[in-house]
Amino acid sequence: MAQEDIFKKLVAHCKEYGFVFQSSEIYDGLGAVYDYGQLGVELKNNIKKYWWDSMVLLHENVVGLDSAIFMHPTIWKASGHVDAFSDPLIDNKDSKKRYRADVLIEEQLAKIEGKIEKEITKAKKRFGDAFDEQQFRETNPRVLANKKKFDELHTRFAKALNDGDLDELKQIIIDQGIVCPVSGSRNWTDVRQFNLMFATEMGATAEGASTIYLRPETAQGIFVNYLNVQKTGRMKIPFGIAQIGKAFRNEIVARQFIFRMREFEQMEMQFFVRPGTELEWFEKWKETRMNWHRALGFGDENYRFHEHEKLAHYANAAVDVEYKFPFGFKEVEGIHSRTDFDLSQHEEYSGKKIRYFDPELNESYVPFVVETSIGVDRMFLQIISAAYTEEKLEKDSRIVLRIPAPLAPVKLAVLPLVKKDGLPEIARNIINDLKFDFNCQYDEKDSIGKRYRRQDAIGTPFCVTIDHQTIDDNTVTIRYRDTMAQKRVAIEELRGIIDAQVSFKKLFGQA
Ligand code: GAP
Repeated sequence: MAQEDIFKKLVAHCKEYGFVFQSSEIYDGLGAVYDYGQLGVELKNNIKKYWWDSMVLLHENVVGLDSAIFMHPTIWKASGHVDAFSDPLIDNKDSKKRYRADVLIEEQLAKIEGKIEKEITKAKKRFGDAFDEQQFRETNPRVLANKKKFDELHTRFAKALNDGDLDELKQIIIDQGIVCPVSGSRNWTDVRQFNLMFATEMGATAEGASTIYLRPETAQGIFVNYLNVQKTGRMKIPFGIAQIGKAFRNEIVARQFIFRMREFEQMEMQFFVRPGTELEWFEKWKETRMNWHRALGFGDENYRFHEHEKLAHYANAAVDVEYKFPFGFKEVEGIHSRTDFDLSQHEEYSGKKIRYFDPELNESYVPFVVETSIGVDRMFLQIISAAYTEEKLEKDSRIVLRIPAPLAPVKLAVLPLVKKDGLPEIARNIINDLKFDFNCQYDEKDSIGKRYRRQDAIGTPFCVTIDHQTIDDNTVTIRYRDTMAQKRVAIEELRGIIDAQVSFKKLFGQA
């Protein structure tokens, strides 16, 4: 099945099973804004717990924060967001559709990369086990020609971005013959910069009101609280502050479901270090974060690092963790070495000293910062994309969400085989005993096979079935989502069996 079709199916699946709804749906929706349903909110909370515990619980020198969304407007001037937080946009004059010029060029690069991969897949099939991929990449004329095209375009694109050369971005689009996906034409406007921050007013009267911004990143809340936390927490460098919270961006190209939203949630950690050590820490956090992703077991080959073409105004090193979504490798998380840019800017704009006295060096300095920043919603989409599986079985088929058990919204379903003979009561007793530890669901409707399918479709790792034998010997059947294997176990064993699989320790052991 084409990757696009799979993506459409998983978007539909998210709605059908109560994971994600379009915001304001009964009013025809609001663009790029989404609500999380009864199962979505559970998955989202589990993702946040996985992140929070891995950062704050497991690192003695990382503490949490929950700063306000509204902040003093000067913060955004100091951080550079008022002047530089913008995207290069281009309009197609025929379709009147607006695009990000950099995204159009990135898609062109991905197309060329796709051609190379296609050649390799074809050759792999043709040569079987004898295939030497490296040699093929180095010698095949079609691969080499496309590699040359890719490298030339990539160099030109990176230069245009770094120089902030909007005319050159347009010229690249024209030279590459990039067409509007809607009109199919090459009738483009010039490229312009467009600021992404939402502004609103605080204050009772129009005259007395001041413009404030909905934060486009949670990071600034951490920077302006650096001194508060360092002093009250008696933190010693190196240390980190972690925060989960909403962020808002007036994204123009809001596509691909919850991949790019206008209201979204970030999980960010700023790690404050001694100047000159930041690149060492950058490498450490790169590795830590990649391990966190890979521990979910979706296949190491589906993750990669991507170096930035253009460094943000605050960074001296930056890399993205990318995942292979159905629409290609895309960013899930950004890791940036932000230098002392933010703290220095806040020193200058606030007029307050933001320093650390380092007792070992016997000197004060503005700390340097390494940031890890990941979107909760994007992580959610990554997990759903990786977990969604259509499986052919002997007699029929099933859709199963292979969500890692610690993240699954519902951990176990308890199913009485029939609605009588005391079986529902036993099922309720089991739930009452386990519900403080695990999210349980009770279901007595339809055949047991249909009930298993419903649980597979929402990713429930365990189904526990109560039958007449249970009345005699207090045993139940436990059925495993991934293998569909079934085992007879004593009721008192359930907690241990389930806990061993759903505990976050299982993930942390691998992260
Ligand atoms: N503080 C740094 C920062 O905000 P970013 O690369 O712009 O860096 C970090 O964003 C992460 O936030 C991204 O890797 C992505 O997961 C998420 N993110 C950014 N914009 C988003 C959007 N419009 N919708 C959903 N997630 C977004």
